[in-house]
Order: sequence, then structure tokens, then C-alpha cells
Amino acid sequence: MNTVNLISDDIKPYLNFFHPLIMWVLFGLTIYALYLGVQARRTRTADAEARKDLIKGKFANRHFQIGSLVMALMVLGTIGGMAATYINNNKLFVGPHLLAGLGMTGLIAVSASLSPFMQKGQDWARYTHIGLNTVIVGLFGWQAISGVEIFQRILQNF
Ligand code: HEM
Ligand code: HEM
Repeated sequence: MNTVNLISDDIKPYLNFFHPLIMWVLFGLTIYALYLGVQARRTRTADAEARKDLIKGKFANRHFQIGSLVMALMVLGTIGGMAATYINNNKLFVGPHLLAGLGMTGLIAVSASLSPFMQKGQDWARYTHIGLNTVIVGLFGWQAISGVEIFQRILQNF
């Protein structure tokens, strides 16, 4: 028996809602991580006087925590999107939403793996981190648009 048939047909349609919902929350969290990262950079590069104030925000620490959460949710959210698609269609659609999603998930792993080097003060790691995350945020905007289009198509068949 196909494993996909183990899931009741009553439940299947509702699986379509989890991924879009989680990804919109994740979009917000990603923008928040961006804000914290920019503040962490400002703190690091500020003059002594301005630094005294900025340092109270603990931006680098908070950025690391929210960034880690963003990575965890992105990995699970992508797997979840693929699982829901497969359960409902018995196949995946190798299109832009799938490929960009997998690409982003790979990039964020590389971006996070630069953490120890950034903490050692390596500028190449910082600039690579910023570059990779700029691509990720850009792709996220694209995923949000293509994701809503997919969602509307699902609703039409509901
Ligand atoms: C998703 C969007 C993310 C954005 C837009 C972003 C952006 C940034 C920016 C602008 C900086 C400042 C670099 C500098 O000081 O010059 C930074 C630093 C850093 N980021 Fe991210 N980041 C993201 C995700 C992550 C993730 C997933 C991790 C790790 C799990 C992470 C870990 C770090 C660390 C450790 C630093 C160095 C902070 C320090 O100065 O100690 N970031 N990030
Ligand atoms: C921001 C809003 C997003 C919305 C509204 C959205 C919406 C959707 C919808 C409706 C599906 C079809 C799921 C199903 O058939 O049940 C889907 C699939 C998928 N999504 Fe998203 N998505 C979003 C963001 C993302 C992001 C950020 C990623 C990855 C980082 C991602 C990765 C995937 C993947 C890999 C699939 C499976 C595609 C396939 O095999 O055809 N999505 N998404």
C-alpha cells in the first residue's frame, strides 16, 4: 500500500494550510533577524560613546538566537511544504517554488555555518553572511508571491 494512503482523506485538505501560515510567520521573523543583524553591526562599528547605548540592546546575542530559530523553521517548513504537496498529489512539482525553497534552505545552512568565523572577527565571513542572507531575503519575497498563487489554486479546487 502507498504510505500516502495511510493519511485520512478528511485530514488531507487541511494540511495545505500549515505551510503557508508558518512561512508568513517566518517571513516576519526573518525581517526581525535582519533588523537585529543590522543593529549588531552598528554596535560593533559605533564609536565609544554611541556603543555604550547600543550595547545594552544585546543585538548580536539576540540576532544569533532569532537567526537560529529562523534556520530551524525554514528547514522544517520546507520539508513540511514538500510533505503536504506529496501527500495531496502523490508527486512533487519541480517548479520555481520548490527549487527556490530548496535553494534558500541550503543557503541558510551555509550562512549559519559562518558563525564561528564571524565570532572570531573574520570580515570575509561577515560579508559572505550578509551577501547570502540578502539573496535569501530576496528569494523569500518571491516565495511569498508564488506561494500565495499556489494557495489560491488550491482554494479554487477546495
Ligand atoms: C536570515 C537572515 C539573516 C540576516 C539578514 C542576517 C544578517 C546579519 C548581519 C547584517 C550581521 C552583522 C554582520 C557584521 O557585524 O558586520 C550578522 C551577524 C551575525 N549573524 Fe546573521 N543574519 C541572518 C541569519 C543568521 C543565522 C541563521 C545565524 C546563525 C544561526 C546568524 C548568525 C550570526 C552571527 C553569529 C553574527 C555575528 C554577530 C556578532 O557580531 O557577534 N545569522 N547577521
Ligand atoms: C511566504 C509564503 C509562502 C506561501 C504562502 C507558500 C505556499 C505554499 C503552498 C500553498 C504550497 C503547496 C503545498 C500543498 O500542496 O499543500 C507550497 C509548497 C512548497 N513550499 Fe511554500 N509557501 C511560502 C513560502 C515558502 C518558503 C519560504 C519556502 C522555502 C524556504 C517554501 C518551500 C516550499 C516547498 C519546497 C514546497 C513543495 C513544492 C512542491 O513540491 O511543489 N515555501 N508552498
